[in-house]
Amino acid sequence: MANVVKGNFPIDKFRDVETPFYYYDVDVLNRTLDLVKKESEANHAIVHYAIKANANPKVLKIIAQKGLGADCVSGNEVKAAIESGFPASRIVFAGVGKTDPEINLALDNDIFCFNAESIPELEVINELAGKKGKVANVELRVNPNVDAHTHHYITTGLNENKFGFNMDDLADVVKMFDSLKNLKLIGLHFHIGSQITDLSSYEHLCVKINELQDAMEAMGVRLANINIGGGLGINYEHPNHMPIADFEAYFRLFSKYLKLRPGQQLHCEPGRSIVAQCGSLITKVTYVKKGKEKQFAIVDAGMTDLIRPALYQAYHRIENISSDAEEEKYDVVGPICESSDVFDKDVLLNGTKRGDFLAIRSAGAYGEIMASGYNLRRLPKGYLSTEF
Ligand code: LLP
Repeated sequence: MANVVKGNFPIDKFRDVETPFYYYDVDVLNRTLDLVKKESEANHAIVHYAIKANANPKVLKIIAQKGLGADCVSGNEVKAAIESGFPASRIVFAGVGKTDPEINLALDNDIFCFNAESIPELEVINELAGKKGKVANVELRVNPNVDAHTHHYITTGLNENKFGFNMDDLADVVKMFDSLKNLKLIGLHFHIGSQITDLSSYEHLCVKINELQDAMEAMGVRLANINIGGGLGINYEHPNHMPIADFEAYFRLFSKYLKLRPGQQLHCEPGRSIVAQCGSLITKVTYVKKGKEKQFAIVDAGMTDLIRPALYQAYHRIENISSDAEEEKYDVVGPICESSDVFDKDVLLNGTKRGDFLAIRSAGAYGEIMASGYNLRRLPKGYLSTEF
């Protein structure tokens, strides 16, 4: 596809900044947050931003200021959430392997709830809460065995996945709470996968939740909270045309298909759909190398800065933001000593030369946060558009 429309970048100001770096467009972020707030409020849902998608402190602060809650999966994420201004009363904590220090930290901060994933975990939270003389709120993460039709590495709600309680075991688990005196069961939690673009997967999730709620009610159990997790996909192909995910369709679907009981509170945990489109990885072309069949744009960013193409064969649109020359085809590759260090092959870019800036788009989610120091590379920095 031709790179006709490009993103807006203050390229003259990029010349003084060490590349590669992440650039976060605050206007796109704010517009996304405004829409998610509007749609969630209209549908009476509480939004917990999934910090794992991007924990840059400057980005977190903007999201916290808009009044969202936080979804955390480690003690350090709980700490980061609190330091960035997310209220503890809106922090949920998931993960199959919460350690004792992490549980203690969450207890000390009186977070909203633990999203628990196994019986041994419930026993440990119960014991640690007891030692502190506290009663911890718990939602049970249920594995609904719904296919999210996404990459298998980011599918989480199938029986083969490690996450959550099996639906069939749930009745027994609920009964256990009679003896777990330091836990209060306040809800059910689900998360079926990430980058979900086929919204019918969510329809299937609603059917499963409705069935489960019927079964629970038959046991005389009604829970105050239903948390549907995250996963809403974004448009990686057309970030300029679709910079904001379709939150309206997302919330409308749950309003239509999910039968909430009177007084029940809906929660969700979007990550990617909040931050992906505001972020670009800005990289400089180090060399253009003409191979026998190909030409390579060798850039100073590598899979250490953005691992998604190498790990999930993920597509990210690439634009040469400093050239208007006639388009040519390039393989855009990094400097890392791995053949998987390729951002994309046969990309049409405006004529590219050493020193040009490329923007690798839709990289605000699972980009900076997944960077590594392999090959002893420095970690990329992240800048807000308002800093230029
Ligand atoms: N809630 C739970 C329990 C999760 O496990 C996740 C993501 C989310 C919420 C947020 O999902 P989102 O709205 O961002 O799809 N590194 C992968 C994505 C891993 C997602 C893990 N869980 C990637 O780069 O595509």
